[in-house]
Amino acid sequence: MRQPLLSEGAKELSYEIREIVKKAEQIKAEGQTIYWENIGDPIQKNHILPEWIREIIADLARQNDSYGYCPSKGILETRKFLAEQTNARGGVKITADDICFFNGLGDAIGKVYQYITPTSRVIGPSPAYSTHSSAEAAHASHEPITYKLDPNNKWYPDLDDLYNKVKYNPNVVGILLINPDNPTGMVYPLDTLKRIVAIAREFKLFLVCDEIYLNITYNGAKTYALADIIEDVPGIAMKGISKELPWPGARCGWMEYYNRTVDHDFSRLCAAIDNAKMIEVCSTKLPQLAIPKILGDPRFKVYREETNQRIGRRSKIISEILGAVPELMFNETFGAFYNTIIFKEGTLKPGQKMKIENEVVRKKVESWVSENIQFDKRFVYYLLGAKGVCVVPISSFCSELQGFRVTLLEEDEATLIKIFSSIRDGIVEYLHSVN
Ligand SMILES: Cc1ncc(COP(=O)(O)O)c(C=O)c1O
Repeated sequence: MRQPLLSEGAKELSYEIREIVKKAEQIKAEGQTIYWENIGDPIQKNHILPEWIREIIADLARQNDSYGYCPSKGILETRKFLAEQTNARGGVKITADDICFFNGLGDAIGKVYQYITPTSRVIGPSPAYSTHSSAEAAHASHEPITYKLDPNNKWYPDLDDLYNKVKYNPNVVGILLINPDNPTGMVYPLDTLKRIVAIAREFKLFLVCDEIYLNITYNGAKTYALADIIEDVPGIAMKGISKELPWPGARCGWMEYYNRTVDHDFSRLCAAIDNAKMIEVCSTKLPQLAIPKILGDPRFKVYREETNQRIGRRSKIISEILGAVPELMFNETFGAFYNTIIFKEGTLKPGQKMKIENEVVRKKVESWVSENIQFDKRFVYYLLGAKGVCVVPISSFCSELQGFRVTLLEEDEATLIKIFSSIRDGIVEYLHSVN
């Protein structure tokens, strides 16, 4: 090549949630059953969409008009419907013009950071959902700037850490929060959110709030949306149907711009994001047509509540099984459908093992762990080889902590208990294999 081919930022792109699948497939090829605890796809975990939802989608698929392009920002009626839903919350007010559709929230995440000046940074949580941290780091060609989520304090953001990082880093122009959070499953209290808004106001920052799990809460929790608490601060809420419907294969999500007019630079960023979608023509149309019909149906609220209750029940079962292991830092979850479980300091050591019956699998795992890898990754490989359970190491979520993320999605209770009991047994065996 006459000139370097790859941008500096390309090295920041990684997605362990899918990387681990390559390893799991190798184990599966040796005849081991794999329990996929790596990805937040309810459909893959046997969730069945109600018949009435599939009927609505089938009706739309029968209409010829569903197959054309739609306006770049998305179908007007759908944007009006969503703007009304946000306005009905009683906080910030928006119009259909403040909404833009994307091909899944992943597409929206890619675009939000791409048009920010490379030296300007958006600080995000650690552990981080890697689509955000990778995209933000790739835009800056630099590793992510993060504030701590504290496992000793229910995974709430460490607000002193956030404040100091913002104060002493003039490059920070925005704060990202994910609420309810992936990977921790935590839902943030009102005071915490108000404090984050106050920090943004003090330092003239904008807020990005990923709310893809906004309506997935359980065990008594309720999410405050960015729209409820943002007041006069500029911000972007990111929403979608991948998790709440759930229809991840639809590739459909949207951004809501709040207080666009209060800051000229922010307003230009929103316009640039709209233009970026315009040069692609538009996003997926059929799911946009379906949104008001499904989300506006009174049956949807009931369905979501029942589905949330079942996630809540699974959260309790997992808590009963893993919460009792003394070497773990375990927090009960209240939203989204993940839990991040941390090994207490000093419990993971070199040379720890689990017994792997299959000779070929054992050799494979031993070769993977012979490289210089994080302790939690080593544990995850052993768990995969010995128990066939595929989880994601937490060190891959921009975190110095050592642990792993599981999902709360297994619909079959007997299978759920089996998976989490074998994770617990694996942990106990692994930790006690070396003194
Ligand atoms: C916090 C968060 N944001 C965005 C996404 C991506 O959503 P989509 O499937 O709509 O691209 C996910 C997927 O797991 C997520 O957990």
